[in-house]
Parts: sequence; structure tokens; C-alpha cells
Amino acid sequence: MRIRPRRNRKTALLRDSLAETRVHREQLIQPHFVQDKDGITPIGAMPGISRMGIEPLVDQVGADLEHGLSSVLLFGVHDSDEKDEHASAATDPDGLIPRAVRRLRDVFGDRLTIMTDVCLCGAMSSGHCGVLEASGRILNDESLPLLADMALAHAHAGADVVAPSDMMDGRVVAIRDRLDDDGMSDTAILSYSTKFASAFYGPFREAADSSPQSGDRKTYQLDPRNRREAVRESILDQEEGADMLMVKPALSYLDIIRDVADSTDLPLAAYNVSGEYGMVKATAERGWIDERAVVLEILTSIVRAGAGLVITYHAREALEQGWLQ
Ligand code: PBG
Repeated sequence: MRIRPRRNRKTALLRDSLAETRVHREQLIQPHFVQDKDGITPIGAMPGISRMGIEPLVDQVGADLEHGLSSVLLFGVHDSDEKDEHASAATDPDGLIPRAVRRLRDVFGDRLTIMTDVCLCGAMSSGHCGVLEASGRILNDESLPLLADMALAHAHAGADVVAPSDMMDGRVVAIRDRLDDDGMSDTAILSYSTKFASAFYGPFREAADSSPQSGDRKTYQLDPRNRREAVRESILDQEEGADMLMVKPALSYLDIIRDVADSTDLPLAAYNVSGEYGMVKATAERGWIDERAVVLEILTSIVRAGAGLVITYHAREALEQGWLQ
């Protein structure tokens, strides 16, 4: 036998030098749930992740920066009595997320990349990502100005990147136009361009209190059976002026990450979502898997599939524990 692939796997040092995929800490983005009330509220379905008031958030982000975790994605959590039919808590220029962004920017300056989720569901009484008509229809074009207002509020507060996750048609161009008209042409848009209607968002909806009160999200989020449509959605957002694209969730959609990476020129993110995180956490708690090894394998596979950025609830632990070294 002359050909022996095992020769290249002989020592750990050799394997490391031949590794085709590497995950760098700069690629990781930590999501945060921001609440109005002070203090910290643990999230049952997401061990290790809590809703945080603005001051605990500043402390946490400061500690994370020490470990080289320098990108955050912020979600606002609103009390039910704040929610209404136009998501006014989300579009308020002095609302929760704009205040959090201003504070983080004040404290950390350009040492931190601040991304904000732009979606109405957390502030809508209906729990939907767009305006709900009495008939049960989600109104696309009526939702666009609200999303643009929300993005503009985040941009003025100092967000580097706004990330629309609603899946309304035309929202990228609506947001881009609004930002540009208001002097915010340097704020980037990371579009959740290929976002599937997934059952893996379960724990997140508890965390953000953003479950639809009626129906589901299948008239706006993508059908998991559709690969060609998934690529088309990302290409459309590129044409609308998105600066970065995203595939979400990640693990059941690694094929789609590869397809989108091969079909566009823009930087691509993948969102390792709450249900994916929960599966790892629950299994690790029972001692059924080696969490460190599984997390590394997951992050590596997402990057290998073609994602340059990974939004993941594992980010903090991976860096704190030195798993990437
Ligand atoms: C808001 C939004 C969701 C997630 C991110 N932004 C939930 C949804 O679409 O229902 C999910 C993130 C996760 O599960 O970690 N539209």
C-alpha cells in the first residue's frame, strides 16, 4: 500500500498544521437579552444565559472583552404592558435598546462591535414580526416604516450594524433608504436574509417573550424544504443593499450556508440558535457528551460550511474556558 492518508494524521502537531478550517475569536458574536428592570433574570430554557439590565450588561460585556469576545448582538425584552399594535416600544429613539447601545458605546468606544436585532415581535402585542391585520394577515408594506424607524433609532444611538430579522419583503432597501436619508450611511445592515420557520427558536421565544399569540411565522419565514428559494432570498437582500448576509438556524442548514456562500460575494453569518444551544446544554448536563469537544465541532462545522461570522450563545464559554486555543 503506497497511499496512506493516515500519515498526515500522525501527531497532534501535524494535524494542527494541516487543519483546513480554523475558528478565530473575532468570528464569534454573543447575543444578549436586554431588560428594562435592573439586575439579572436567568432564562430557564437557556442555561448560562440571562436577561440583563443595562448596568449588568455593561459589566458582562466588559468581562467578555477581557477574553477577546468583542462583538455583541442585542435583543430588547419588553414587558407585556409596554407592547402594542405598532411596536412603539421598539421604535422609540429613547427606548431600551438605544439606551443600551449609547451606554455600551460610551464605556467601550470602538473596542466593541455593537449589532442590534431589528424586529417588531418583541414589542408587538400580537408577537408577530410585522403588523397584524384583524383577518390574521401580516401586512408587509405597513411593517416597513416601523422597521426603518427601529433601525434608525439604533443607528443614531451608535450601533455599528443593524440586523433585520423580520423577513418582510423589501425591508433591507427600506432600512437602507431611511438610514441614508438621515445621515447614517455608515451604519451597516446585516440581513437575516435566509431565515427559516424553525422549531429551533423555542427557547429564544421564552427569553425574548416574543411568541406569536396566534398562528405561526410561516407566511414570512422560509420553508425548511426549500433550498433554491433559500438562496434566492439572500441574493435579493444583496441586491437591496445588505452589507452582510445570514443563514439561520445553522446546524440543520449547513448545506444552505454552503450554497449561499457560493452564490454571493458578501460576508456571511450563521446563527447557531437557541434550540441548538439548548440541545448541547441539556445533553452535556446529563454527562452524555463532552461539551467542549461538541461545541468546537459545531463551531468548526459552521465555519467549514462557509460562514465567516457565527452568532452563538456558546461564544462566552468557548472563550472564557480557552476552548479555541
Ligand atoms: C426575532 C428573532 C428570533 C430569533 C432571532 N430573532 C425568533 C423568531 O423569529 O421567532 C431566534 C434566535 C434564536 O432562536 O436563538 N424575529
